Amino acid sequence: MDAVAPPVPARSPLPAALAGSTVLLVGGSSGIGLAAGALLRSVGARVVLVGRDPDRLAAAVAHLHAVTPDDDAGEVLAVAGDGGDERVLAEAFDRAGRADHVFVTAGGVSGAGPLTGLPAADLRESLDAGLWRPFAVARAAAARLPAGGSLTFSSGILVLRPAPGMTAPLSVAGAVETLTRALAVELAPARVRVNAVRYGRIDTPLLRSLPGLGSDEAMAAAGSAAPLGRFGTAEEAAATALFLMANAYVTGQVITVDGGETLA
Ligand SMILES: NC(=O)c1ccc[n+]([C@@H]2O[C@H](COP(=O)([O-])OP(=O)(O)OC[C@H]3O[C@@H](n4cnc5c(N)ncnc54)[C@H](OP(=O)(O)O)[C@@H]3O)[C@@H](O)[C@H]2O)c1
Repeated sequence: MDAVAPPVPARSPLPAALAGSTVLLVGGSSGIGLAAGALLRSVGARVVLVGRDPDRLAAAVAHLHAVTPDDDAGEVLAVAGDGGDERVLAEAFDRAGRADHVFVTAGGVSGAGPLTGLPAADLRESLDAGLWRPFAVARAAAARLPAGGSLTFSSGILVLRPAPGMTAPLSVAGAVETLTRALAVELAPARVRVNAVRYGRIDTPLLRSLPGLGSDEAMAAAGSAAPLGRFGTAEEAAATALFLMANAYVTGQVITVDGGETLA
């Protein structure tokens, strides 16, 4: 006899309905993940941040407490460590008690450079770490998320419009999009949804770390050539993840948030 699908509690598909839920933000100490933390706190969700740099993590926790000053200490938790480390992920889920949703923004442009210009060992390490991390999160989430829960990954529009020297990071991002669709099918019987957000250029510390984009002026000048005349904000990028957490009928989707850049 087929297993009976677990019941999913009925709730509004608006992000406000995330009040009282707990969200694991793997990569929550900066940029889009941190912006997601602030949006989630503003609707009354608890967050557990995971990031490697303990100082950056502590600053992020302080930032979120400042955003919602009336909260109590248990509303914003943090676990320092690598998002690809299963022990770190287990600790984050344990600290959460019950995690309802997971949003993965951990990552960067590791492995960038001309394919033959990188030592094989470095390239292999980047591919290993970049691909293993989403799988490690997926395995932890699959084991722990309840019916009605969701997992949201991050990707980027360079997957559709590759740039030279980005073969390794883009291959990982492309694999994450495939993982999203495959896992959505695998976890649907457990009523756990899996989606991804594919970003264009979003104003975060990661984008600002790229050559020539280190100041407000440089960001504004570069963004003026984009279809909407600017780059996106971290909040605009993060809001799509909240939509995906809240809407219980969306799974296996990769949603592009790029201000129309892939149309131009
Ligand atoms: N911003 C853009 O324009 C853009 C465009 C396309 C795609 N993306 C993708 O979107 C995601 C978020 O980007 P962002 O701009 O918000 O970057 P960000 O500002 O650099 O934030 C990345 C966050 O992830 C954490 N992190 C990185 N590697 C980690 C690891 N191995 N384990 C745990 N935490 C880790 C970082 O903290 P620690 O370094 O301290 O761990 C930080 O909190 C990334 O995957 C990025 O590739 C961004």
